[in-house]
Amino acid sequence: EPATSKPPLRVVLCAPRGFCAGVVRAIETVERALRIYGTPVYVRHEIVHNKFVVDSLKAKGVVFINELAEAPPGPHPVVFSAHGVARSVPEEAGRRNLRTIDATCPLVTKVHREALAHFKRGRRIVLIGHAGHPEVVGTMGQLPQGAVTLVSSIEEVERLQREDGQPIAYVTQTTLSVDDTREIVAALRARFPDIHVPPNEDICYATTNRQEAVKAAARLVEAAIVVGAANSSNSQRLREVAEREGCVAQLVADERAVDWAALANVRSVAVTAGASAPETLVERIVEALKERYEVTLETITTTSESMAFPLPRDVRDPV
Ligand code: F3S
Repeated sequence: EPATSKPPLRVVLCAPRGFCAGVVRAIETVERALRIYGTPVYVRHEIVHNKFVVDSLKAKGVVFINELAEAPPGPHPVVFSAHGVARSVPEEAGRRNLRTIDATCPLVTKVHREALAHFKRGRRIVLIGHAGHPEVVGTMGQLPQGAVTLVSSIEEVERLQREDGQPIAYVTQTTLSVDDTREIVAALRARFPDIHVPPNEDICYATTNRQEAVKAAARLVEAAIVVGAANSSNSQRLREVAEREGCVAQLVADERAVDWAALANVRSVAVTAGASAPETLVERIVEALKERYEVTLETITTTSESMAFPLPRDVRDPV
C-alpha cells in the first residue's frame, strides 16, 4: 500500500435531487426573455435561490433588482421570480407601464388561488410557512392585510384565535418539511375540527420527493452533503431531514464550502441538492470527494419524476 492511498468512502447519490420543474421553467423564462427582448432583462428578486444560477444569468445581461422602482419603463421586461409576488407588485408595474413576465411556479400560483377562494367564502386563512420568505410574502400579499395569519409552529397554532362561527382554512408554503407540517396540521385540526383542508397538498411534489430520497439515503450512511443556498427553504429542509435520521449533515453552496473536518472519520455519505441547485454543483462535490477518498458511487432512487410546466405565454413561442 502506498502511503498516499486514500481512505474509502461510500457515496450515495439521492434521486430525485436538484432542479424541479418550477426552477427549470423560471430559468428558461429568463433565457428566452433575453433572446426576445435583448439585454438588459430585469429580474425582481433572485429568480431562484442559487448564486450560481444568478451569477450565470448576470453574465448574460440580467439585472437583478429588489424593487420595481429600480426598473426603468421601456421595452425591457421585469421577470417575477419563481417564488411569486404580492398583488401589489403587478399593480405597481401596471401603473408604471412596465412590461412584466411572471415566472411564478404554477404550484405557488395554485396556493395563491386557494387562498383567494377561501377569502371569497369568508374563511379565516392560516398560512403555514416561514416568516420573511419571499413565497410567504407573495402568498400573504394576495389578500388584504390581516386576512392571512402566518404560523410556523405548534405553539403558534395554540395561540390562534377566531371569532365564533367564522369558518377557517389553511394553506401552506410549498417547500416545508413534510414531517413538521404534518404535526402542525394535526394541531390545527385538533384545535379547529371544521378547518378546510387543501384538496391536494400544498407542499409540492419536488419538495416531498427530495425529502423522501434524502431520508432513505440518510438511513444508509453516516453523513450527508446537501448542495444548495443558505436562503433556500427546501435545501435547508433537506439538511434537517438528514440530520434527524442521525447524519452529520451540512448544507453547502459548492465544493469549496464543504467542512472536510466534519467528514474526517466518515466512511459513507449521502449527496443531494435542493430544487434550485444545478447538477454541475453536485458533480463538483463528487469530484472533490474523489480527490480525497477512494469513492464507490451508488444512487438510491425513491421515485422518478416527469413533471414539466408550460412556459409563461409571453415567452412560449420558440425563439
Ligand atoms: Fe415549484 Fe416546488 Fe419547485 S413549488 S419552484 S416545483 S420547489
